[in-house]
Amino acid sequence: MKRDLMSLHDLSSDEILHILDLTQKIKNDKTMGKAILKDQSIGLVFQKPSNRTRVSFEVGVTQLGGHCLYLGPDEINLGVRESTADVSKTLSRYLNGIVARTHTHQDIEDLCRYSSVPVINGLSDLYHPCQALTDLFSIKEKFEQIKGLTFAYIGDGNNVCHSLLIGCAKVGIHINVATPKGYEPDEDVIETAKTYAEQSGVSIDLSNSPEEAVGQADVIYTDVWVSMGQEKESEKRLADFDNFQINEKLMQLANNKHIFMHCLPAHRGQEVTAEVIDGPNSIVFDQAENRLHTQKAVLMFLFQTQETCQTE
Ligand code: CP
Ligand code: NVA
Repeated sequence: MKRDLMSLHDLSSDEILHILDLTQKIKNDKTMGKAILKDQSIGLVFQKPSNRTRVSFEVGVTQLGGHCLYLGPDEINLGVRESTADVSKTLSRYLNGIVARTHTHQDIEDLCRYSSVPVINGLSDLYHPCQALTDLFSIKEKFEQIKGLTFAYIGDGNNVCHSLLIGCAKVGIHINVATPKGYEPDEDVIETAKTYAEQSGVSIDLSNSPEEAVGQADVIYTDVWVSMGQEKESEKRLADFDNFQINEKLMQLANNKHIFMHCLPAHRGQEVTAEVIDGPNSIVFDQAENRLHTQKAVLMFLFQTQETCQTE
C-alpha cells in the first residue's frame, strides 16, 4: 500500500506531530536517513514555477541518497500532450515517487489515483500541504508548545490558507482568518476544518476584519494577493485587498511576542511592508530553510511507511 500526500486530510493529527518531531531530528542531524532513497528516482512534475519547493525537494532527495528528475511544463503538459492518467501510469513504471505542482487539484487526485508510487502535492489551486507542515514546524520551533496558540491569517482564502486551516485545526491551534468579501476560503474546506477543530478543542474565526483577526494573535501570516495562474485578475485583486496589508500599525494589535510568517515569494508594498517582513519578528527565511528539513521528513515518512507495508 503506497501513501500519498495530496493534502493534510491524508495525515492524522498524530502523524502530523510525528513529522514535526522527525523534522527537528533531521534539522539537528543533517546526515540522518542519508541512504533512505538509495537508488530511488523521484520525478518533479511541475506545471508552475517554483524556487523553494523545487530546490528543497531536489536537495532533500539528494541528501537522502536518491536522484531527482525535474519535469517542467515543456516536458509534461498534463492533460494536453497526454492524459494525466497516462502520464501517471507511465511515470510509475520508471520512478519511485512523484512530487507534483499542478494548476488544478483534480490533476493531483488523478496522479495519485493512477500512480503505483507515492505522490506528493507540491502545490495545487486548492492545497499546499508541504508548506503548511513547514509552517507548523516553524511555529513549534519558535514557541515549543503549539497547542493553544492563536494563528491569524490575513489575505486571500487560497491554497496556503486552506492547508493552514486544516493543519492548525488538526494540531490544536486557534485560527482567525480575515479576507476581503468574496475571497473567503472554500466552504468545504472550512466545514472540514471545523470538524477537526472540534476534535482538538480550538476555534476557527472567519471575518473580513484584519484588526479583529490579528488581535492578540501569536502568529501573523500572509500570502500573495495574486496567486500563480490568477495574473489576469491582478488589477481587481490589488484594489480589493487594499485594506489587508500587514504593516506596523496592524502589527501593534498582535501579541508582544508575535512572529510574522509568509510562505514566499512576497511582494513588499502589497500584502506586507518591507518594515514588517524584514523586521525583527519576521521568521520568513527560517521558514524557507525549514522547507528542506520538512521535505526530507515527509519523504522519510512516506517511503518508510511504504517499506513497512510492503514487508508486512
Ligand atoms: N513557498 C513556496 O512554495 O515557494 P515556491 O513557489 O518558490 O516553491
Ligand atoms: N498562493 C501562492 C502560493 C505560492 C507558494 C500561489 O499559489 O501562487
